[in-house]
Amino acid sequence: MGTFNKPLLLVLFLVVFISILPLNIVSSPTTQGEALVKWKDTLFDSSPLNSWSLNNLSNLCNWTGITCNTEGTVSKLQIYDQGISGTLAHFNFSSFPSLTSLAMSYNNLSGSIPVDIGNATQLQRLDLSFNNLDGNIPSFIDQLTELQQLDLSFNNLNSSIPPELGLCTKLNALNLSGNSLTGPLPYSFSNLTRISELSLYENHLSGELSPQLFTKWTELTSLDMRYSGFSGNIPSEIGMLRNLTSLDLTGNDLEGTIPKEIGNLNQLQILYLSENHLEGSIPATIGNLAKLESLFLYNNNLSGTIPPEVSNLTLLEYLDLGNNQLTGTIPHDIGRLINLTYLDLSNNQLNGIIPLEIGNFTLLQYLQLENNQLVGELHDSISHLTMLRKLGLSFNRFSGSIPTDFGKYTPNLSHMNLSGNNFSGEFPQTLCKATSLQVLDLSSNELNGSLPGCLGNLNKTIVVNLSKNKFKGTMPMFCTTNIAILDLSSNMLSGALPRCLFTYTNIKLIILDLHDNQFQGTIPQIIGNSCELTTFNINNNHIEGSIPLGLANCKLLQILDLGNNKIKDSFPSWLPTLPQLQILVLRSNRFHGNLSVKMTERPFSKLRIMDLSHNQFSGNLPINFFDNFKLMANSDRRVGINTSFTIGLYYEASTSLVVKGMELEVKKILYIYTSIDLSSNEFTGEVSEVIGEFKSLRLLNLSHNSLTGHIPSSLGNMSLLESLDFSSNRMTGMIPRQLSTLEFLSTLNLSTNNLSGEIPQGRHFDTFTKDSFLGNLALCGAPVTKKCKDDEFPPREADDDVDYIWFDWKMILIGYGIGLVCGLSTGYIVFTTLKPWWFVSIIERAQHKLIRRLMMNT
Ligand SMILES: *[C@@H]1O[C@H](CO)[C@@H](O)[C@H](O)[C@H]1NC(C)=O
Ligand SMILES: *[C@@H]1O[C@H](CO)[C@@H](O)[C@H](O)[C@H]1NC(C)=O
Ligand SMILES: *[C@@H]1O[C@H](CO)[C@@H](O)[C@H](O)[C@H]1NC(C)=O
Ligand SMILES: *[C@@H]1O[C@H](CO)[C@@H](O)[C@H](O)[C@H]1NC(C)=O
Ligand SMILES: *[C@@H]1O[C@H](CO)[C@@H](O)[C@H](O)[C@H]1NC(C)=O
Ligand SMILES: *[C@@H]1O[C@H](CO)[C@@H](O)[C@H](O)[C@H]1NC(C)=O
Ligand SMILES: *[C@@H]1O[C@H](CO)[C@@H](O)[C@H](O)[C@H]1NC(C)=O
Ligand SMILES: *[C@@H]1O[C@H](CO)[C@@H](O)[C@H](O)[C@H]1NC(C)=O
Ligand SMILES: *[C@@H]1O[C@H](CO)[C@@H](O)[C@H](O)[C@H]1NC(C)=O
Ligand SMILES: *[C@@H]1O[C@H](CO)[C@@H](O)[C@H](O)[C@H]1NC(C)=O
Ligand SMILES: *[C@@H]1O[C@H](CO)[C@@H](O)[C@H](O)[C@H]1NC(C)=O
Repeated sequence: MGTFNKPLLLVLFLVVFISILPLNIVSSPTTQGEALVKWKDTLFDSSPLNSWSLNNLSNLCNWTGITCNTEGTVSKLQIYDQGISGTLAHFNFSSFPSLTSLAMSYNNLSGSIPVDIGNATQLQRLDLSFNNLDGNIPSFIDQLTELQQLDLSFNNLNSSIPPELGLCTKLNALNLSGNSLTGPLPYSFSNLTRISELSLYENHLSGELSPQLFTKWTELTSLDMRYSGFSGNIPSEIGMLRNLTSLDLTGNDLEGTIPKEIGNLNQLQILYLSENHLEGSIPATIGNLAKLESLFLYNNNLSGTIPPEVSNLTLLEYLDLGNNQLTGTIPHDIGRLINLTYLDLSNNQLNGIIPLEIGNFTLLQYLQLENNQLVGELHDSISHLTMLRKLGLSFNRFSGSIPTDFGKYTPNLSHMNLSGNNFSGEFPQTLCKATSLQVLDLSSNELNGSLPGCLGNLNKTIVVNLSKNKFKGTMPMFCTTNIAILDLSSNMLSGALPRCLFTYTNIKLIILDLHDNQFQGTIPQIIGNSCELTTFNINNNHIEGSIPLGLANCKLLQILDLGNNKIKDSFPSWLPTLPQLQILVLRSNRFHGNLSVKMTERPFSKLRIMDLSHNQFSGNLPINFFDNFKLMANSDRRVGINTSFTIGLYYEASTSLVVKGMELEVKKILYIYTSIDLSSNEFTGEVSEVIGEFKSLRLLNLSHNSLTGHIPSSLGNMSLLESLDFSSNRMTGMIPRQLSTLEFLSTLNLSTNNLSGEIPQGRHFDTFTKDSFLGNLALCGAPVTKKCKDDEFPPREADDDVDYIWFDWKMILIGYGIGLVCGLSTGYIVFTTLKPWWFVSIIERAQHKLIRRLMMNT
């Protein structure tokens, strides 16, 4: 019996041993539980994993995030969005040989992806997306030969993509987006023959899209490489990806043409090639993409006409071909795209009319055709686009009147921009029915008649720009709580300025521009402390009275232009304290008195343009007002006018872009046109040598005052000076030689003073004609006719600091000299025509991205 039982026992023992061996030695539930708890104990906050406990090993398979296989060992570990903070360094992957899924997205894992992950050889799905992992993608990832889904998106991975990843040939979904990965896409990726979804967007990759890549990805349905850093051409092999439903190459440096083979991708629903440098024409084969719902090609250099085949894409909902160089007409067959909700053809060179058929787009919400050469009248049918939210037709050549029903059937219309056309006729009353209107821009047209009072009832309006038309009559009460920008400049509006526009208890006006109208009366008293005005411009009206004291509360003012009115006041002592003021224009009013106001720490600390000309200011020159011009030169600050808006929706998304755009303009105006114009007043005294320290000044006009003394030789230090006018004063002495070193000086007027001696000669000075020097009887040398007698003057070398008291002091007044053409007006116009709409279109772009993301996610 013993001999019989022995082998049996041995067999039994072996059976038991064999069945227990892998579990016991490698991964018993206990070892796994212990390994999990050990890792849990390294986490900063492990409260979501409370069930993970050594006292609770028997419940392993019911622990949070754990799934077991039939053997009772861990097969899946899935912890989403639990706020887990820590690293994977102490996770013992060797303990989990049968783990098929590891998913810990939306946590706070940091550190690198551990080497040991290669020990979890059965992994089919690895998802560590939306954490803070850094370092590289480990190259031994190729040990994960079963891997089908790998998602490492939105971490801080910053290596190149390891070629070994291409050996995980079972991969069908790979997402590495939102990292800082560098280098090219490895050739080995062509091995990923089962890949179906590939996302690499928002990385810093480089190199070209190699044609080989596209030959074997036959199961690819979604390819997202937007903002990845690729350059070169789009290879024609892309046409082999016949299962592709979504292709996004937005925002790379791709060049060359769009390959006609793209027409082979007949499953495509989404095609985004925007924001590249693609050129040539849009291939007609695009008309084959019968399932296309979104076509975005904006911001490229595409030329030629819009292929009529586009009209075959009848499922199209989004079509954006904006910012290209497309020519020709809008195909009239486009009317077949009756599912369109978004149509943007802006910033091209399209001509012809808007096809009547556009009225068929009953779902249309966005229609952007601005900046083309479109002509004709707006057809009534456009009033019947009942879903319309945004209508942008600015800067075309449209004419005729705005359809009389416009606004009546568009309750959702929030943005309307018809500026820069030739629209005529009256303001359509029905627009008052568009109660959702936020942005209304009808500027730069030929519209006339009066503005309906009901406009003031549109209580959602944020931006109203009706400037540069021929509107007359009084202005509606645009005093709703949302109004931020009101520009009615360059019309023929009259009447008093409405009080409510100056009552800052609940309105948040940022820009108020009423210049070039016929408004009368006084500036109403400012009420409330929450004035947020950055621009206040009433230049060229008939405003009288004084400047309201309350304006001192408007600490954000950057532009204050009260010029060309009938304001009678002394210089407001609080003006120099406005910390943001960059442009101050009081020109042509009845200001009087001297400017020796009580000084603050740094008066006018941001000033760039000051125009006090044509008033009756007297006393000494307020030289200390201009200290800012010294500092600007030292630091070369190019601080722009900052009109960042704190208004509702657009703020967050657009600030930086807006500011960037503004800075561009600002360089043109404020940086270049630094100017001081104090001409035609009654200033007396001498011009201090200190003025030479205002090195950033480009225009200085002190003409038509009663200034005495010499022309400061320090002017030679104002190396940027382009225009200098001291004419019609009582200045004496010689013209300092240093002036001839001013390289940019192109306008000079020293006429009608008591200057004497030899006119400096030199390359640059020779270009001024005698008009610059007329009326100074004691000046001699070219270009005036009087010759200098050599013996009458000391040698030139000694000129610099000599006191010329020996000159003849005859007062000669020969009327007005040549007026200086002030650069100010040009620069200023650039600013005032800056369209709020401009930033609105930036927001559109931001919304594109949003829309696309939303679409991608559904
Ligand atoms: C897990 O919990 C469920 C109830 O939630 C229970 O039915 C099951 O028996 C538990 N399994 C183990 C292994 O504890
Ligand atoms: C053990 O795990 C189960 C299942 O997750 C849980 O309901 C229970 O509260 C845990 N017990 C302890 C003592 O943590
Ligand atoms: C990881 O687990 C394996 C198998 O369970 C074990 O042999 C090894 O010692 C563990 N490593 C560490 C560092 O605990
Ligand atoms: C994320 O983890 C880091 C440590 O790696 C920690 O400093 C930070 O506070 C954590 N953040 C959150 C939101 O838990
Ligand atoms: C498993 O991890 C250990 C270190 O813990 C390492 O020495 C070993 O090479 C790894 N095995 C594999 C297959 O990666
Ligand atoms: C896979 O990629 C490697 C590395 O690029 C290459 O050597 C190999 O030939 C490829 N295999 C196949 C089947 O394409
Ligand atoms: C597209 O995918 C299907 C499976 O979804 C597959 O049968 C077919 O072969 C693929 N087409 C191509 C051109 O590879
Ligand atoms: C577009 O559709 C028309 C018929 O509606 C057809 O004649 C034409 O061939 C199509 N063009 C393309 C490029 O598919
Ligand atoms: C418009 O879209 C709907 C559903 O999205 C679809 O059923 C309809 O066929 C489309 N219209 C055309 C003309 O393709
Ligand atoms: C499209 O518009 C044209 C002209 O307005 C009209 O004749 C045609 O019937 C419309 N088609 C549809 C489908 O509404
Ligand atoms: C805005 O105007 C509409 C009608 O034009 C009115 O129903 C609504 O109450 C008003 N909202 C406010 C905040 O005044």
